[in-house]
Amino acid sequence: MKLKTFASLLIILVVTKLVNAQSIPTISAVQPIVPTPEVYKLVEGQLILADNISVSSKDLPENIKTYLIEKLNHVYELRTTISAVSKDLIFKKIVNVPKDWYSINVNETITITYSSEESCFYAVVSLLQMIEGKNGELFIQKCFVQDAPNFQWRGLHLDVARHFYTVEEVKRFIDLMAFYKFNTFHWHLTDDQGWRIEIKKYPKLTEIGAWRDSTVNAHYSTIPRTYTVEKYGGYYTQEQIKEVVSYAAAQYITIVPEIEMPGHARAALAAYPQYSCTGEQQGVPGLWGVFDDIFCAHESTFDFLYGIMDEVLELFPSTYIHIGGDEAPKARWKKCKKCQAVIRENGLKDEHELQSYFIGKMDEYLTAKGRKLIGWDEILEGGLSPNAAVMSWRGMEGGLEAAKMKHYAVMSPGSHCYFDHYQSDSPSEPLAIGGYTPIEKVYQFSPIPTGLDNEGLTYILGGQANLWTEYIPTMQQLEYMTYPRALALSQALWCKSRPAYADFKATLLYHQFDFLERYNVNFSKAVTFAKYSLKNTENGVKLELAKEAADQSFNVHYSDTNGAHDQGLTKGDSIVFERTEINQVNPVKVEISNKFTDDKQGFTLIQHPSLGLKVELITKPSAQYSGKGGETLTDGILGTRPWKGNEWLGFQDQEIELQVDLGKVSAIDSIDLSFLQDEGSWIHHPYILRFSVSKNGKKWKYLKNAEIKTYEYTIDPNNLMPYRAILKSKGRFVSIKLTTFDVIPEGLPGENNVPWTFMDELIIYFK
Ligand code: ACM
Ligand code: ZN
Repeated sequence: MKLKTFASLLIILVVTKLVNAQSIPTISAVQPIVPTPEVYKLVEGQLILADNISVSSKDLPENIKTYLIEKLNHVYELRTTISAVSKDLIFKKIVNVPKDWYSINVNETITITYSSEESCFYAVVSLLQMIEGKNGELFIQKCFVQDAPNFQWRGLHLDVARHFYTVEEVKRFIDLMAFYKFNTFHWHLTDDQGWRIEIKKYPKLTEIGAWRDSTVNAHYSTIPRTYTVEKYGGYYTQEQIKEVVSYAAAQYITIVPEIEMPGHARAALAAYPQYSCTGEQQGVPGLWGVFDDIFCAHESTFDFLYGIMDEVLELFPSTYIHIGGDEAPKARWKKCKKCQAVIRENGLKDEHELQSYFIGKMDEYLTAKGRKLIGWDEILEGGLSPNAAVMSWRGMEGGLEAAKMKHYAVMSPGSHCYFDHYQSDSPSEPLAIGGYTPIEKVYQFSPIPTGLDNEGLTYILGGQANLWTEYIPTMQQLEYMTYPRALALSQALWCKSRPAYADFKATLLYHQFDFLERYNVNFSKAVTFAKYSLKNTENGVKLELAKEAADQSFNVHYSDTNGAHDQGLTKGDSIVFERTEINQVNPVKVEISNKFTDDKQGFTLIQHPSLGLKVELITKPSAQYSGKGGETLTDGILGTRPWKGNEWLGFQDQEIELQVDLGKVSAIDSIDLSFLQDEGSWIHHPYILRFSVSKNGKKWKYLKNAEIKTYEYTIDPNNLMPYRAILKSKGRFVSIKLTTFDVIPEGLPGENNVPWTFMDELIIYFK
């Protein structure tokens, strides 16, 4: 997937303007800066950037001067002269304006006015984003910009434990964050699969804990698992950490370190097994997931963790210190004499209160040192510690609950802020953990939950996206997963009021993609992909190109039993894939190529005998995984593994019911049903399937003798049809009732939480 050249796409867009004047704005009319400034007023004309720009040194902080000159000289190949009397670009520090406020006036010269060093820096990055044209012919559209941020925590997180990123790579991550006015880098330094920070008091943490012997291949849920047996790891020395902290500070980014406890601690326990409950010596795991072995809640563990924290606090000046707190199974604590003694001696009710006690000890320690504890929302379990802030990841509820209790919260819900999820349904997407979070969805994010009064709102610090790296092994891929979704997030965190998504998209296409290319960022171009829908029709499923694809044109290539076909499609055009006769199942490979780019998208549609039939969902799926409602189950697109989210229907009910309308009374032979099993994501098969049929939708006959076979469907190894139900019955309507566990059994990830049921295609065979 590669743009022929972005410039050629722009030319095509501009040419198209003559044809379609309303929908395509001129380039200069499109506001270039992300996040969108509060005020952007266009002025007639362009300021051509002369080769030698004279920059005034007055009111220009030294470190911003270095940053600006480095960019102008080396990226834009402009010469600069700095002196007190320079006049092309001048700076004015002023008082009596809001914190982090700035303005930029571009006319015959450029004037930047600002209130704080941070805002001077923000003005400079806005200015860089305004530079257009090719080197040698650079210009800035004349305009007036005025701006200030909305939220104070504008974060990106990076997990360097699952895959290690070098100091240079981390600096690059920080450089790119700074362009979009993020100010908090959450550095996830420790996890089960690696300990990445040198602690001088406990050298084995990096001698042993920084290295694993093997790494699992493919996806966690692909069975049987295979491993690459190769030493993998790395860590940062304290000198390197100091260097990164000051590097980030020079771009007004605070680094919040995360030291995970009590769970996700296997790397630490491989080095110091005496701080586990069993004391058993185990290696650093090369498998992802959640492990039962966590820190023992005994006093000696706290001394160990305090010793680590003492060194962490020396290295990181941040107010907040992240202690993890998520996904800590209680299996070991339940059986551990030492943990049970702590429960008894402190009058705790259970292991959940022990978790709260654990976090409370760290809170006390950090508070005494003048710092503040932040942890994932599981730290609410068993009672929130007095000074703790909550990072809400399992939805917005944890943050909401914290804010209601007058605790600070950062919103980072999996639904919108997990950039390890898929960002398009193109088969060219690299393997990801699962989930579906396209940029449009990120753009809908707001860190403000519903249900807070004005006082509660003051406790919402902001938001953050997380880059978990189980499936992100390289910097190239890290950039691809982060950009441009991080731009959509920056809008949610910076802007007091955001433009419509279409305007943001125009800014991406007309300006920001050029900007990212100038800085050699490997970003996703999923926003240029064809927008199409698959809709159920009378006799099957219709592929239709969306209206918003007006500026694009696609070729659809597909092969079915009649051979290969090519069809050009523009907006509103469609192709119908018909339902098959009786027992035929026929995979059709569909490839959609964008004529202006080399992008190819595609999918495999299964033509089958129940394609396009109407399904009524008596039990409603979760809003997050509602696909196209009932149509999802008969659209010919099979749920995949790893899952992307939009192709499955996800339910969180113990009883699930749905009805299929066959259109006429028919002789039914059997039904294939597909469910996802992905324990790590709390997704489980149902364990009871019941079928009834009806001729009129009123009087039902329960098929108590329906034979249900487990079954492996073979069209694609990523698609599983685990059950075939032999019905041998007659009717127009089929009712399917599923029963799942009420809660996930103990010992499995997400124990005691309600499990998810992910269901997709229903294939009905007739006699
Ligand atoms: C998390 O994603 N386990 C915080
Ligand atoms: Zn214990």
